[in-house]
Amino acid sequence: MLSLFLTAALVANTLAAPAVVVGPRADTACTREALKAHAATLIAAQTAGKPDSIVALTGPDFVYTEDAKSADLAKGVLTLPLRIDHSRSIYDTTQCATYSEIISTDPKNPRVVGTQMRFDSSASKLTKIETLVTMQGDWLFNATATNMYASREDTLWTEIPEAQRDSRAVIQAAGDAYLDLFNNKSTVVPWGTPCQRLEGGAYTGRGSPSDSCNVGVPSGVPIVNRRYVIDEVLGTVDAFVTFASVPDSHEFRVEKGKLRLVHTLTVMRK
Ligand SMILES: *[C@@H]1O[C@H](CO)[C@@H](O)[C@H](O)[C@H]1NC(C)=O
Ligand SMILES: *[C@@H]1O[C@H](CO)[C@@H](O)[C@H](O)[C@H]1NC(C)=O
Repeated sequence: MLSLFLTAALVANTLAAPAVVVGPRADTACTREALKAHAATLIAAQTAGKPDSIVALTGPDFVYTEDAKSADLAKGVLTLPLRIDHSRSIYDTTQCATYSEIISTDPKNPRVVGTQMRFDSSASKLTKIETLVTMQGDWLFNATATNMYASREDTLWTEIPEAQRDSRAVIQAAGDAYLDLFNNKSTVVPWGTPCQRLEGGAYTGRGSPSDSCNVGVPSGVPIVNRRYVIDEVLGTVDAFVTFASVPDSHEFRVEKGKLRLVHTLTVMRK
């Protein structure tokens, strides 16, 4: 009798549950503002060389990798104070994630760092950080050049008016087409014009309205294990990938479905 009663109560509770849970409450959703604040915390931590404020955000099953290898957040790149010359972040409220490009030309420790941070659905706890730390010895590394070209593009990586924004799917597809091209020359890539590619410290832009990113890529290179951060407001997708066998980031600015800017980071050191 008692167990029947309990069962009935449990069933009633279960049935009642959906009526109570009406989707994420506004104050616990993943907001752009929360993601911006977290990216700012990351930049401040890197500037100070103090990981504490980021460590304080980590959740119970937090995962950290540096150059695609498991590492200790409290002992990683955030312990290195960097005089940051330039940084730019994107915000993915759907996946509750950020990507930041961080450039330091400090002659003591020149670095170009790419960091993806992933949070729980309320943007309160970090579930994962993946970071790629490029320096001397990495693909076309030259922090001075990267800073010069990236800074010059500040007026291009701007918010896109709402009516002109592409969907997440369109933005990702443009980036994927570019990445697919390395292993399939038949891939139709939505090239935009002008388009500039910043690959390590090497820049394809000549400041001409006909600048193209269709300047050739190697062939027979599978680009796999793609982890995306997508920001429709900034028309940008960043993908952390395995480029043949090495850790790499490709970030794309997409406008009206077409590629306009490409930034890459590739870790070559073992
Ligand atoms: C790095 O780039 C800067 C700016 O383009 C250039 O002046 C410098 O020679 C480059 N350094 C190397 C080692 O290539
Ligand atoms: C290469 O790309 C073309 C065009 O998208 C596609 O039709 C074809 O199936 C692809 N080939 C392979 C091997 O994936």
